[in-house]
Amino acid sequence: MADENRLLGVAVLGVGRMGRRHALNTAFFTPRARLVAVCDPIEACLQWAEENLPASVRRQTDFQQIFDDPQVQAVVIATETSSHARLAVEALRAGKHVLLEKPISINPRDSEPVLAAAKENEVEGLKLKCMVGLSRRFDESYKEVKRQIDAGLLGTPYLIKSATNDMYDPSGFFVKFSEASGGLIVDCGIHDIDMARWLFGLTTAVTTSDCDDAPRVKRVFSTGLSVRHPELAKTNDADNAICVVEFTGGKVLDFHLSRTGLHGHDCLTEVFGSERKVIVNGNPTINRVEIRDQHGVRTESTPTYYERFREAFVTEVNEFVACCLDDTVVPVSLDDAVQAGKIADALTHAFRTGKQVLFGDDGEAIYE
Ligand SMILES: NC(=O)c1ccc[n+]([C@@H]2O[C@H](COP(=O)([O-])OP(=O)(O)OC[C@H]3O[C@@H](n4cnc5c(N)ncnc54)[C@H](O)[C@@H]3O)[C@@H](O)[C@H]2O)c1
Repeated sequence: MADENRLLGVAVLGVGRMGRRHALNTAFFTPRARLVAVCDPIEACLQWAEENLPASVRRQTDFQQIFDDPQVQAVVIATETSSHARLAVEALRAGKHVLLEKPISINPRDSEPVLAAAKENEVEGLKLKCMVGLSRRFDESYKEVKRQIDAGLLGTPYLIKSATNDMYDPSGFFVKFSEASGGLIVDCGIHDIDMARWLFGLTTAVTTSDCDDAPRVKRVFSTGLSVRHPELAKTNDADNAICVVEFTGGKVLDFHLSRTGLHGHDCLTEVFGSERKVIVNGNPTINRVEIRDQHGVRTESTPTYYERFREAFVTEVNEFVACCLDDTVVPVSLDDAVQAGKIADALTHAFRTGKQVLFGDDGEAIYE
């Protein structure tokens, strides 16, 4: 039985774009948590924290102070991707629960120490939680699609067509960000991949069972193009990518990623089943207002991922905090995030080499 009076002490590591949202959500919209501290080496980030967070929230530049702080029971890691795995391992070793921003790492090999550190905690019975923030799992519309699939209303789901298109940022931020983020497919496509594995029923409950005919990845292919930033070729990246993931059992995910959208953040998902097709975000409208004028009938779009998934991020941190306090299983397992990472890595390889990547029966990509 949960002790409702106990609050989880949380610190946010990295208060850039995403970390600021996590800090605000933890401080103001998570009733069972208390934001104890934020940590970032950049002075402007701490200045933002001073102006926007409660005065009681400590502002620090040294991660070790957070790991040594007994008032901090959990950390949210929202630093750039290349630093995730190291910080997650250090946090787990310091006895902190971890909510880790996606993806765990730029390549699957670097995720292994995180899995090992999480396992050490299991062995020692410390029951620390480590959850990866694959945010679509916490969105009400995607949850409703999952409920309909689980209730059998789609019959057999066989095809997911999806798109994650960001509005073009003329500052070229994502070009600078390319290397440290792992590139377009790892950074962005991880959401489509995890969502498809989840909706197709491939996530932990199935894959960790010893059921031999559980669906698994069979092969992947992708191609990319740079519509506005040909210089992305220097980091083997692109500003658009088309990816196909074929699973056993006759299931396919087909998705388009783009950094060059014109109207806003648009993440269309179509799920085709033998009995029903459902669409999420058919119109990426920011509200229910329709404008009718000399240009016709139209709506305004969500400008960024954040406006689209605002509530999902609040749900995500609340569900994580509840798992820590009530010692329940986290809704996104580390294994799920690792598997999604392996598929993203194989798709990146396919894009760079122009070759399909096959997967073996053991679920590992076969690189020639
Ligand atoms: N779930 C989602 O939909 C979603 C959306 C956006 C970003 N993200 C993830 O959040 C993470 C942060 O992205 P962002 O857009 O906020 O980036 P950002 O560059 O705006 O912020 C990163 C912050 O981390 C700080 N930092 C502290 N220590 C660091 C270290 N050792 N190495 C690197 N940075 C350090 C930087 O100073 C910076 O303030 C990324 O991993 C990204 O993939 C997730």
